[in-house]
Amino acid sequence: MKHTQLPLSEFIQRRQRFFEQMLDDSIAIFSANKEVTRSNDTEYPFCQNKNFYYLTGFNEPEAILVLIKSATPQAILFCQPKDPLAEVWHGRRIGEVKAKQDYGFDQCFTLLQLTEQISDYLNEANTLYFCRGQNESFDQQIYQWLDSNKAKSRQGFSSPKQLIDCQNMVEELRLIKSEDELTIMRQVNVISGKAHQRAMEKTTAGKFEYQIEAEILHEFARYGARFPAYNSIVAGGDNANILHYTNNDQQLNDGDLLLIDAGGELAGYAADITRTFPVNGVFSAPQKALYQLVLDAQQQCIQAIKPGQTLGHLNELCCEVLTKGLLELGILSGDYQTLLSEKACKKYFIHGLGHWLGLDVHDVGDYHMVNRAQTRAFEAGMVMTIEPGLYIPLEDNEVDEKWRGIGIRIEDNIAVTDQGHENLTVNAPKSIEAIEQLMAK
Ligand code: GLY
Ligand code: MN
Ligand code: MN
Repeated sequence: MKHTQLPLSEFIQRRQRFFEQMLDDSIAIFSANKEVTRSNDTEYPFCQNKNFYYLTGFNEPEAILVLIKSATPQAILFCQPKDPLAEVWHGRRIGEVKAKQDYGFDQCFTLLQLTEQISDYLNEANTLYFCRGQNESFDQQIYQWLDSNKAKSRQGFSSPKQLIDCQNMVEELRLIKSEDELTIMRQVNVISGKAHQRAMEKTTAGKFEYQIEAEILHEFARYGARFPAYNSIVAGGDNANILHYTNNDQQLNDGDLLLIDAGGELAGYAADITRTFPVNGVFSAPQKALYQLVLDAQQQCIQAIKPGQTLGHLNELCCEVLTKGLLELGILSGDYQTLLSEKACKKYFIHGLGHWLGLDVHDVGDYHMVNRAQTRAFEAGMVMTIEPGLYIPLEDNEVDEKWRGIGIRIEDNIAVTDQGHENLTVNAPKSIEAIEQLMAK
C-alpha cells in the first residue's frame, strides 16, 4: 500500500496562514523533536513535534524552522547535513538541498549555519514568536540566542523587544481540518476499524489481552499505520474500569466483556476508537442493557453535532440519556430532575464526553469561548471524539451484583461539516446485532 502523505501545497498554505497572523518585522522559530532514548543505544520510534510537522511536513529530528515576516516573507529550514557515515548507520537524511526542492522552503541550510544566521535574523526583528514551555532545552536555546545578541549590543546588535507565545496561533489553525487532512483521517479510521473487526474475530475465552493487542497492531501496520496513535487499551472484564489500563496481560474470561480503545496513526494523524464486546460473542442480559444505554447516549450525541452545537450541551444531553436509563435499570434511584442536577450519572460516567482529534489524539485547540464561561461553538472542519461510557467496578457494593465488573465505552470520531457531521468511524461494528453476527462467524 502506498504511503499516504499530504500534498506540498497544504504545508505551504499553512505557513501562509501563519504568516498572515504575524506582525510586520517579526520572526517565528519552531523546533523539531529530538530522538528519545529508550535504553542505552536504542531509541523510541521517532515522533515529530506536531506543530513543527504541521508547518513543514519535515519528519527528521534536529531541525529548526524560521519564518521571517518582512516585505517578502521567508520560510527557512535548518536541518542535519548529509553525512554518508552517519547515514549508513542511522538511515538516510534529506539534507538541505533536497529539503529546499521538496518541501517548498525559500531557503535551507544545515544546522551548522544556524547560530550565526539566527543572530542576524533576531537583529532585524521587533517581535519573536515561539511555542514556549513545550521543550525546556528549546526555550533555553531561544534565551541564549537573545542573550548573545544583547551581549553584542556595542557592535550594533539588537534583539526583538516583544516575545509572543504562539502556541495558540498554531492550535487554532490545527483545530480546523482541511479536505486533505480529512481524507487522511478517514483512511486511518478505516484502518483502525479493520483492526477492531479483526480483534472481534480473533477473541475467544482463554486468550490473553496481549494476543488481541497483537492482532490490532498487526492490522494497523499492514495498512501503513505502523504505530498506534497511543498505547492500546485491551481490557477484559473489570480491567475496563481502569480508564487508562495498558498492562494488557490478563487472560480473557468467558462471560466477560472486552473493552478495546485503539487507534492507528497515519501520516501523523490519529484515530481514537473504542469498542466493547462479549469475549464469548454473545452479550448477557445485563451487559446488553448497559451496552444499549451507552450506545443510545452516543448516537443521540452524534446526531446532534452540527455547526453551532457545543460540547457542553452534548455533555448535558449525554447525562440526560444516561440518567434516565440508569433510573430505568434501577442502578440509580430517586427523582430524575434531582439526579440530573446532582450529576448523579457521573458516578458511573467518570470522564468527559469527547475531545478534539487530529495530529494528536487529544488534539490541540481551546474548548472554551473567549469569556471561558461556555464551551465554544462547533465549526465545519473540527474533528472530535464522542465517547460516553459506564463503569461499574467489581467492588461497587451499592448496585445489584449482576452489574458489577462491567465497563463499557463506545468511541467514534466525528467531523463537523457545513450541514451537520460526518462519522469517520464507518467500519468498526457497533450495534449489538452487528457485533454478535460478526463474532458468530
Ligand atoms: N484513547 C484515549 C481517549 O479515548 O481519550
Ligand atoms: Mn478519546
Ligand atoms: Mn480512546
